[in-house]
Amino acid sequence: MGPDAVDLIMDDHRVLESLFEQVQAGEGDRRILVDEIAARLTAHSHAEEKKVYPTLTKADPGEKDDVDHAYHEHDEAEELLQQVVRSVDSPQFEQVLAEFVQAVKHHVEEEESKVLPALREAVDQATLERLGEAFTEVRIDELRRAGFDEEGQHAAAYDRGRADLAGATRDDLYEMAKDADISGRSSMNKDDLSQALRRQA
Ligand SMILES: [Fe+2]
Ligand SMILES: [Fe+2]
Repeated sequence: MGPDAVDLIMDDHRVLESLFEQVQAGEGDRRILVDEIAARLTAHSHAEEKKVYPTLTKADPGEKDDVDHAYHEHDEAEELLQQVVRSVDSPQFEQVLAEFVQAVKHHVEEEESKVLPALREAVDQATLERLGEAFTEVRIDELRRAGFDEEGQHAAAYDRGRADLAGATRDDLYEMAKDADISGRSSMNKDDLSQALRRQA
């Protein structure tokens, strides 16, 4: 028996909450944490919208209102997230972050108390496991495109891109561009590579 969609979604909620705690406690690099939260939350919500929510409304049309509400909360969280991203260097950061965290926690609570239990009721275990795979596939695909590997850790190019692009040689930059799959990299000089990597990060 593999992990099912409900378990995987709840595990991912816990990961997000621990990142919220880190950034709220002022641990680590704020910009890097915010970028990781943004990538993880966006990939998570999209995977739910593409795979999980439609499965629930199809299996149990009576859940349509709860699911519509969940979509709406994703939109709200997305808007607040954009404000957080824009406020990283602002004195309002903590306040904006608190509002965002509160909204996401509220959504997570509703999802875990209404949507996910309804999903468990509505479909059988085999479907839940297949749905878990589909959820993970979409989530990881989005994370990769955002420059993260499947563990959600920073991909090498992303990490180094932030940390020390300035001190890198052309060869280093070329290797990073290769990791990041930047097209046209063979013909780029050091500055071009550096710029392309910054754009990606
Ligand atoms: Fe969720
Ligand atoms: Fe959600």
